[in-house]
Amino acid sequence: MDIKVEAGDITQHPAGAIIVNLFEGVTSPGGATGAVDRSLGGGIGRLIADGEIKGKKNEVVLVHTLGRIPAARVLVAGLGKQKDFGLDTVRNLMGSCLRRARGASATSVATILHGAGIAGLAPEACAQAIAEGAVMGAYRFRRYKHNEDDTSKDIETLAIVESDAAKLDAVRRGVERGVILGQAANHTRDLANEPANELPPAKFAERAQALAGDAGLECEVLDEQTLRELGMGALLGVGVGSAQPPCFIILRYRGRPDSDQTIGLIGKGITFDSGGISIKPAAGMEAMKGDMSGGAAIISAMWALGKLRPAVNVTGLVPAAENMPSGSAIRPGDVLRAMNGKTIEVINTDAEGRLILADAICYARQQKLSPLIDVATLTGAMQIALGPGATGFMTTDDGLAEAITKAGQAAGEPMWRFPLIDDYAEGLRSNVADIKNTGNRNGGAISAAKFLHFFVEDTPWAHIDMAGTDDADKEKGVWVKGSTGIPTRTLVNLVLALAER
Ligand code: BES
Ligand code: MN
Ligand code: ZN
Repeated sequence: MDIKVEAGDITQHPAGAIIVNLFEGVTSPGGATGAVDRSLGGGIGRLIADGEIKGKKNEVVLVHTLGRIPAARVLVAGLGKQKDFGLDTVRNLMGSCLRRARGASATSVATILHGAGIAGLAPEACAQAIAEGAVMGAYRFRRYKHNEDDTSKDIETLAIVESDAAKLDAVRRGVERGVILGQAANHTRDLANEPANELPPAKFAERAQALAGDAGLECEVLDEQTLRELGMGALLGVGVGSAQPPCFIILRYRGRPDSDQTIGLIGKGITFDSGGISIKPAAGMEAMKGDMSGGAAIISAMWALGKLRPAVNVTGLVPAAENMPSGSAIRPGDVLRAMNGKTIEVINTDAEGRLILADAICYARQQKLSPLIDVATLTGAMQIALGPGATGFMTTDDGLAEAITKAGQAAGEPMWRFPLIDDYAEGLRSNVADIKNTGNRNGGAISAAKFLHFFVEDTPWAHIDMAGTDDADKEKGVWVKGSTGIPTRTLVNLVLALAER
C-alpha cells in the first residue's frame, strides 16, 4: 500500500472509498463530514437522524455516493465520545475502515486527517496514527492459503487529503514514522504467524539477517558450536531435544558512536514450545509456534530503529531454540550450567523461556549492555492475570517503569506494572543447584521474573511478559486474528524516549 499526502478537498477526490468521521451524539456533521454530507444532498445527516449512524467507537457505516461525488463510497467512522478520543481511536478506525473498504472491493482509499479537526491533536501525530493504523489493519497472512474465502485485492493507495497546505510537511513526517512503526509490527506478525516447521531457529536467524540488511544493521548469528565455546549451557540444554540446532541472534544499531552506553533488548526465541519432556496438553499447542514473538518483536523493533536512526546505541539479542521431547532432550532433574557459571536444576522442561533468557542476560551483562529490557511469552500465569487487554511487566527501575508505561500508551499497547516480590525467590531454591527453574504456582509470572532477576543481578532491567497479548482471536481496529505484533511499537517508542534522556 502506497500512502500519499495531498493538498485538496476530500469531496472532490476520486477514490474507491473516502473516510470521514463523526463524534457520538453529533446530529449535524461539521468540517469535512459536513462538506461531504452537503455534496450528497444531506444523505449522511438523514442516516444520523434515522439512527443508522451513531458515531460510536468502532462503528463504520458505508454510504454509496451514486455519482454525486467522484468517490464511489463514503465510510463514516465513529469516533465515540469526545472525552475518550485520542490517537488510539484514529489508529483503530483506520484499521477497521481499510478492511471495510477492501471488503467492498475498493483498491484506492482517501481519508481526512482524523483528529486534527475539532479534536485539535497535532497534525504530525494524527498522520502517524493514520499510517500506523492503515498498515496494521490491512495486514493479512495469506502465505499458505489457496482457496481464500476472502478474495479481495489489497488496497493499493491511501491518500491523506488535507486542505490546509501549511500542515502538509508535518503530515508527511508523521506518515513516514507511522509507516515504519506499522511495518515493524507487521514484520513481527509475519515471523510469529509462520508455522514452526517453516521457521526453525536457523530460518528465524536468516529472516533476522534479511531485516537487518534492509535497515542497515549489523547482524551476527552464533551457531551451536560457538554457544558451546561460550558456555551457554541453558540455551543448549533447551535446544538439545530438537533436530533443529539452537542459535543466538545479535543485531547492533549504533546511532551514537560517541557514547559508550548501549541499551540491551532481549527477546525469547522459542520457535516451538511443545513443553519438552514435561509435554503440554494437545489442545491449543499449535499456538506455541508463536513462542518466539518476543524475539520477533526485538528483531522488528531493531529494524525500525535502523530506519528511524535515533541518536542512541542498541543491541538486540535473541536466543533461539526449539523445545522438543526426544531421546536427547533434557529431563526434569537435570542440571544445566549457564554462561556465568550458575547452575540450574530443571524441574519442568516447559519452563524453558527463562532458561534461554538466562544465557542471553549473561551475554548482555558481559557486553556491558544497560539498561536491559527482555520481552517474552513467558508464563501462562501472566495470560490469566491480565488477559488480552494489557501486557504485564516488572522492573527494578521506577524511571524505566514510567517510560515503559508511556511508550505503551502512545502505541495503544497498554503496559501494566507488576511487583517483583523478592520473597518469591525462596521458592526457586534448589537442593542440588544454585537455582531451580520453577517456583510456587501462585504468582507464577513473578516467580519467573525473579528467576531472571537472579541472572540480571544489579543491572537496571525490565521484563515484559507478553504471554496474554501476543495473539488476537478476533479482528478489532488495528488487530487482526493471529499475531498482534505487541510490543514492537512500545519498544521503539521506549528507545526513542531513552535516546532523548
Ligand atoms: N511459552 C509458555 C508460556 C505461554 C503460555 C505463552 C500461554 C503463551 C500462552 C512457557 O514456556 C511455559 O510453558 N510456561 C509455563 C511455566 C511453568 C511450567 C512454570 C507455564 O506458564 O505454564
Ligand atoms: Mn514452555
Ligand atoms: Zn515457552
